[in-house]
Amino acid sequence: MKRHPVVLVAVSIVSTLAAVHISGCGATRSARSLAAEKVYVAPGELDKYYAFLSGGQSGSVFVVGIPSGRLIREVPIFESRAAYGYAMHETDPRRQELVATGGAWGDTHHPVLSETGGVPNGKYLWINDLANGRLGRVRLDYFEADKIVKIPNLQGAHGIAVVSPDTKYIVVNGEFEQPTDGMVSNPAPYTSVVAFVEPETMAVKFEVRVNGNIDIADTSKDGRYAFSTIYNLEQGKTMGAMIQYDRDAVAAIDIPLAEQAVAAGRGDTRNGVPILDPEKTPGVLTLIPVPKNPHGINVTPDGRYAIASGKLSPTVTIIDAHTLAIVAEPEVGLGPLHTTFDNRGNAFTSLFLDSQVVKWNIDKAVRGTSDYIVDRLNVHYNIGHLQAVGGDHTHPYGDYLLALNKLSKDQYIGVGPDLPENQEIIDISGDKMRLLASFPTPPEPHDATFMAVDLLRPLVKQTFTPAADAVEAGKERVVRAGPHAVTVDMTLIRSAYTPDSFEVREGDQVTLRVTNVETIRDMIHGFALPDHDLNIALAPGYTKTITFDAGKPGVYWYYCTNFCSALHLEMRGRMVVQPKDSTVTIADWHAAENVKGQVVPGVPSTGDRP
Ligand code: CUA
Repeated sequence: MKRHPVVLVAVSIVSTLAAVHISGCGATRSARSLAAEKVYVAPGELDKYYAFLSGGQSGSVFVVGIPSGRLIREVPIFESRAAYGYAMHETDPRRQELVATGGAWGDTHHPVLSETGGVPNGKYLWINDLANGRLGRVRLDYFEADKIVKIPNLQGAHGIAVVSPDTKYIVVNGEFEQPTDGMVSNPAPYTSVVAFVEPETMAVKFEVRVNGNIDIADTSKDGRYAFSTIYNLEQGKTMGAMIQYDRDAVAAIDIPLAEQAVAAGRGDTRNGVPILDPEKTPGVLTLIPVPKNPHGINVTPDGRYAIASGKLSPTVTIIDAHTLAIVAEPEVGLGPLHTTFDNRGNAFTSLFLDSQVVKWNIDKAVRGTSDYIVDRLNVHYNIGHLQAVGGDHTHPYGDYLLALNKLSKDQYIGVGPDLPENQEIIDISGDKMRLLASFPTPPEPHDATFMAVDLLRPLVKQTFTPAADAVEAGKERVVRAGPHAVTVDMTLIRSAYTPDSFEVREGDQVTLRVTNVETIRDMIHGFALPDHDLNIALAPGYTKTITFDAGKPGVYWYYCTNFCSALHLEMRGRMVVQPKDSTVTIADWHAAENVKGQVVPGVPSTGDRP
């Protein structure tokens, strides 16, 4: 059959359209492929950076790989977490600090890293607990919370910052004003303080009194000034009263001058901490007027400027970080909250209301040329903090930026009435920003900081150094310590508990001290005990002590909760709780068990062994 020419023409048009469509699709796919390639980390390969994200209401820190967005670890700090972390270890001083300072939960906002020469040294990470006025420290060699302190004379520990370049102090801002002298003069005027915490001892060395709500913190790169944004200079107690003034302030505290005043005894000591009153110590506190209710304060990597973000004003205020003079106040967009930096003289400001990241050139903005805005990128949605890798230190990497968005709207389906929080990874290596990928994290990450994986890797310890109270292999024992008290010293090693059974009586208090005596990394064993609210896990070298009631008479199998070998499932043992008046001993149980195994039809009995 001959083809009709019209049909051929029609076919050729259709195939041309198809070709166009495919090439259009191909172009889209190529842009997607390029973005995917930028964030793809193949199995077995390492992320370039670890981002430390505040866990918000979880009281923890999330460690996320960048650029992959993979969740690497959650580090519990102000909370007890079943199994891992220090909090399931009664005799641990950290647990006692946690309980004594406000409860086993927190509201973490701002992770900051210890620095040497203005860059992270990988020793510590600090994070605030806004709700309970605490500061927690994580040891990065163990990725474990290490110390928790309550900051005296302060409520609402909000902004924190490391005093550059060598971590002289951690600055902690008290956001909620308190009566000046406790309730001594009643009623007392309200005020707040900025606290300076010594990094090793975590002792609060001194505080500086500041009126208003002290918000976000950063420090000059030379160790001279601690900068804080202050809103509510009105000292209003209601929202309406907090937004009356046209301008609030950035507080600049002269650290060396404050130290001199403290050394000269010019502080009023309250709760063991000298508090400097700026009226009696002129020069310690300078208030720099900025548009009302500012939020973020960020010092440029070169240390030249401190940039305050307007929040209610569409501007950022650029302050000379040495003279404290305002040098420019450029408009950037609606709802500027925080600013970060690349290594090419650009700043990136988060715009909460515009749901945008705006990239602007610092020198051009200072010179007042009209073309200082470089680029804008929409994010999804209502961005809070943003952080470029290294942008909070002296040597930004200039490659990736993390947008920490408050709302995700249409990006995921609801998880119940709630939607996941949405983090977005942005490529900032070119003139134009490029959105690469997004990943959800549990609520609610506020802020992030980063460390290069190459720098972190050699610092991380392989095993815990055994503590003084560690149980040594061969020295395990079950001791009746009193009429109603039993102490069990136990060790764990692949894949057995020693002892693998012990006997207690109804009404006994059992104190279990258990050490993982493995000497190679990652050989974690668990100890979960049914019906006793007891689930702990121990990394190699770790010891935990926990006291519990023996409970009802019965046999309770403790078992390993971490896969450890082919015999992981067999890694278990028994706690036999005898009735009060029982005369049966664990030896009787063992004797009975070794006489005969259970006979299963068709399966050779093991009960005939000698
Ligand atoms: Cu030990 Cu599983």
